[in-house]
Amino acid sequence: MNQRSYRVAVLGGDGIGPEVTSAALEVVRAAGVAFETTMFELGAARYLRDGFVLDDATLEQLRGFDAILLGAVGPAIGDTRIPGGVLERGLLLRMRFGLDLYINYRPFRGVAGSLAEGCEFAIVRENTEGPYAGEGGVLRHGTPHEIATQGSVNTRFGVERCVRYAFERASKLERARLTLVHKTNVLTFAGELWSRVVREVALEYPNVSVDYNHVDAACIYLVEDPSRYGIIVTDNLFGDILSDLAGAVTGGIGYAASANLNPARTGASLFEPVHGAAHDIAGSGRANPLAAVSSAVLMLEHLGEDGAASRVARAVQEFDGDVAVLGTAGVTQQLIERL
Ligand code: IPM
Ligand code: MN
Repeated sequence: MNQRSYRVAVLGGDGIGPEVTSAALEVVRAAGVAFETTMFELGAARYLRDGFVLDDATLEQLRGFDAILLGAVGPAIGDTRIPGGVLERGLLLRMRFGLDLYINYRPFRGVAGSLAEGCEFAIVRENTEGPYAGEGGVLRHGTPHEIATQGSVNTRFGVERCVRYAFERASKLERARLTLVHKTNVLTFAGELWSRVVREVALEYPNVSVDYNHVDAACIYLVEDPSRYGIIVTDNLFGDILSDLAGAVTGGIGYAASANLNPARTGASLFEPVHGAAHDIAGSGRANPLAAVSSAVLMLEHLGEDGAASRVARAVQEFDGDVAVLGTAGVTQQLIERL
C-alpha cells in the first residue's frame, strides 16, 4: 500500500455531482490510496447564490493540487436563470485553458447489450484549441450585413503534443492502432497540419498501425464497426461530438469517464464523468456512480497508482447488478467488495 497521501480538490458541483464524487472517493480509499480532500463549491448553485463562477485566485489554488475531481456542473433543465454558456466557458473551459489541460482522454468499453458490446477504444481529443479557442468576432451586429466568424485555431505545438500523447497511448495497446479523424478534404489548412504531424510522429512508433477517417464516415463506423478503433485522435470540436456518439454506442454516458489532462504537469489535471447533473434524481440515492468511479480510475492512473487503478477498473468491469435497484450506496458497496 502506498503511504503517500494525495491532495485532491473536489468540485462536487450540482445535482448528483456531490453524491457520485463522494462514492468515487469512497471506492478509491477502499482500494488503499490515501487522499486529503479540499472541497470547492463551484457551479450553478454557487453562481445563483453569489454570482461567482471562477476567479484567478481560485484557479491558481486549483493548479497546485495533485488532481481535481469534478462531479457535474449545470442548472436543472428548464431553469433559465443562468445564461447558456456562462458555466461552460467560465468554469469548465476556463480550467481547461488556465491549467493547460491539453488532452481530453475518454476511454470507452461497450457494455453488454450496447451496439459496441465488447469493444474497447479511446478518444484523444485536443482540448485547448480548435474552434474552442475563441478566435473570431462579430461585426455590424444586428444589421443585415452582420458578419460572424469563429476560426479554428490549430498550432503546430498544440497538434503535435496531442498527437504524441495519442501515439504513446496507442503504442501500449494490445492491438496498437491509431486513427486520425478529421475532414481533410474540406478543412485543408488544419487537415494538412494534422495529417503531416501524424505522419511524422508515426515514424517514431513503427509498432502502431495508423489509419485516417473523415469525421462523417467515422460517425458511421462508430455505429456499424466500432471494433476497428483503438485510439482515435482528433481536434477539439470533432472530439466533443464523437465522444457523445461513442458514449451512446457503448452503453450510454452513465458509464463514460473523462480525463482533462496536463501531461506536462504544469497544472493539476481534472477528472470528471461525462454525464450531467441530473437534478431530477439528486438526493434520492439513485444516481449511478460508475462513471465517477471510472473517472477516479483515470485519476489513479495519472497519479501513478497503477495497482489501485486496475483493481478499481476491474471492479467496475465485473460489476453486475441493477443500478436502479441497488442505488448509489449499493453499487458503491458492491464495488468495494469486489476490490
Ligand atoms: C464536454 C462538454 C463541454 C465541451 C461543454 C460543457 C463546454 O460538452 O466536456 O464534452 O464542449 O467540451
Ligand atoms: Mn461534449
